[in-house]
Amino acid sequence: MGNPNRAKAEKGLMRWIDDRFPATQMWEDHLSKYYAPKNFNFWYFFGSLALLVLVNQILTGIWLTMSFNPSAEGAFRSVEYIMRDVELGWLIRYMHTTGASAFFVVVYLHMLRGMMYGSYQKPRELIWIFGMTIYLALMAEAFMGYLLPWGQMSYWGAQVIISLFGAIPFIGPDLAEWVRGDYLISGITLNRFFALHVVALPIVILGLVVLHILALHEVGSNNPDGVEIKKNLDENGIPKDGIPFHPYYTVKDIVGVAVFLFVFCIVLFYFPEMGGYFIEAPNFEPANPLKTPDHIAPVWYFTPFYAILRAINFSLFGLDAKFLGVVAMGAAIAILFVLPWLDRSPVKSIRYKGWMSKVALILFCISFVVLGVLGVLPATDGRTIVAQIATAIYFLYFLLMPFYTRIEKCKPVPERVTG
Ligand code: HEM
Repeated sequence: MGNPNRAKAEKGLMRWIDDRFPATQMWEDHLSKYYAPKNFNFWYFFGSLALLVLVNQILTGIWLTMSFNPSAEGAFRSVEYIMRDVELGWLIRYMHTTGASAFFVVVYLHMLRGMMYGSYQKPRELIWIFGMTIYLALMAEAFMGYLLPWGQMSYWGAQVIISLFGAIPFIGPDLAEWVRGDYLISGITLNRFFALHVVALPIVILGLVVLHILALHEVGSNNPDGVEIKKNLDENGIPKDGIPFHPYYTVKDIVGVAVFLFVFCIVLFYFPEMGGYFIEAPNFEPANPLKTPDHIAPVWYFTPFYAILRAINFSLFGLDAKFLGVVAMGAAIAILFVLPWLDRSPVKSIRYKGWMSKVALILFCISFVVLGVLGVLPATDGRTIVAQIATAIYFLYFLLMPFYTRIEKCKPVPERVTG
């Protein structure tokens, strides 16, 4: 039995707020009256999981900052202090480092979902562009975060990546110096990376996530069939194949969260360094500018692009191999931005596209994974050839897309969503 006086007071309070701030309006627009297609499958968990991991990174990051010392003299020691002496510091640090890798697992699967179901196609191009910008910012965020513990791999990994700027003709060396703020990577570099990692980039990422979701809610979600549910409305103007996001998907997403947390906790408590893939072994030694580690490799989520960089070991048109490698690496990311304009297919979802799109997407995924594995390993002649083939497949997937999506025969798309 509800208390009528309390219900009246609550209603009064809500009205008072709504007269001053659109709280109920926002709740309805984005949750209780946001109609999402009823056929979402598990691939649709990764958006809400990305939000969860983002919150985890921000909260654990704030706690780490409380005990971290952003100086060349104190950084490594302060991380050891967090791990050994700060109450539950080990847990907070491992939540942050495991969270960083989890972020990329979730985001890569989220992007793959978009590629499978053509979620970047008209009218969702801006959702994709905001997503890609988030991805760029996330890479910068992870790269800068990795320098902070001031271990051997922090130092030398940053050394390799920043030196890439030096390969740009004319302005390269000055640019690299400007990024470092010094002739070498030093405490000055550490300080600026700390400011960017802890303040600037998180603000940018949060802002972009808001834009990403606003753009999504403007046009509505795509779905595994790629059918526009807004084209089939009932007499009240509600999509016939839509269900309110809250409570249906808020509750469904809890299943995704539970499975994710289960896997996340297994990694966190039993394999927090993941055999050197989440935190590399040399990073347990303090940075030493006089001692280069035997083998420098970035963390796993960057290795596909690192492999593309190394695959270009030849000069062309008088441009040297290192510069061409940097261009190829940049192009590998840039080409993803224009994906919405490369896909000329009349249908969205891979379910109804022709065999060429299916084979192309499978080959693309294989090439991405192969590049990722090669990027972790030291280069040999044989591996370089495999990396060159995988790089060619990676680019051909995009460059040939305007052709194979136009000439292939698609299956008819149903009027209404299936399942
Ligand atoms: C911090 C990172 C990100 C967060 C928190 C995030 C969040 C979300 C959420 C909550 C949704 C709606 C639920 C869903 O459809 O799964 C969504 C949809 C979408 N996201 Fe992201 N996202 C992120 C990164 C990205 C990236 C990197 C891309 C691609 C480059 C991307 C592309 C998309 C697309 C195309 C949709 C619409 C999917 C559809 O309607 O089928 N997102 N995102």
